[in-house]
Amino acid sequence: MKSLYPSLFFLCLTIVWAGCSGKNTPAHQNQNNVNEYKKLVGGGCDGCEIMYIDMPENIPSVDTSSGWFEEGQKLIVAGTVFQIDGKTPAPDVILYYWQTDNKGYYSPKEKMDKTATRHGHIRGWVKTDQNGKYIINTIRPAPYPNDVLPAHIHLSVKEPDLENEYYTDEINFDDDKLLIAHFKKHKQENRGGSGVVRVLIRENMQIAEHDIILGLNIPNYPK
Ligand SMILES: [Fe+2]
Repeated sequence: MKSLYPSLFFLCLTIVWAGCSGKNTPAHQNQNNVNEYKKLVGGGCDGCEIMYIDMPENIPSVDTSSGWFEEGQKLIVAGTVFQIDGKTPAPDVILYYWQTDNKGYYSPKEKMDKTATRHGHIRGWVKTDQNGKYIINTIRPAPYPNDVLPAHIHLSVKEPDLENEYYTDEINFDDDKLLIAHFKKHKQENRGGSGVVRVLIRENMQIAEHDIILGLNIPNYPK
């Protein structure tokens, strides 16, 4: 994703509430910040702290986003979070998600925290249960308007035993027409595993399974 920064940064300027993840090296970061970020597990990111804004104290393993109650294709994302061995389920891991609405905007909501508006109003948290499982009920995000970036849901992970959070590959959808062209130009990082999910259709619902392997392809991850 690093090679996308110039275009993403431009998009951030263009769409006021764009929730661009920022990743490691946004154009406006100074060198000191970049150096500090490099030391962090995951390499840091611009806007990581937004995860903690309005984060509930008690987080269940199932969350229903506000998008679920809006116009759009209902989508259930469900999966298991594993330790780095890829086999052992990881309980008590917080996943923070944020996404565009069904028009492709990180649209804010009235009375929303001003800083968090950058991620739009369709955002939330799940904490994995004792079997490492989680479920997010939401709607299918639309791609950014007039852009070639595939539709996606951003994810940040906060593990109980790590001091800082890190982002994983965004969730992308295997039936997205923009996906193949995008991956021809930009290699997947596979942070936490591939973010591409297979979309299954059950009645009027779309269902996507997304497992995450903690630490996989994450810089500075403790061995
Ligand atoms: Fe985004």
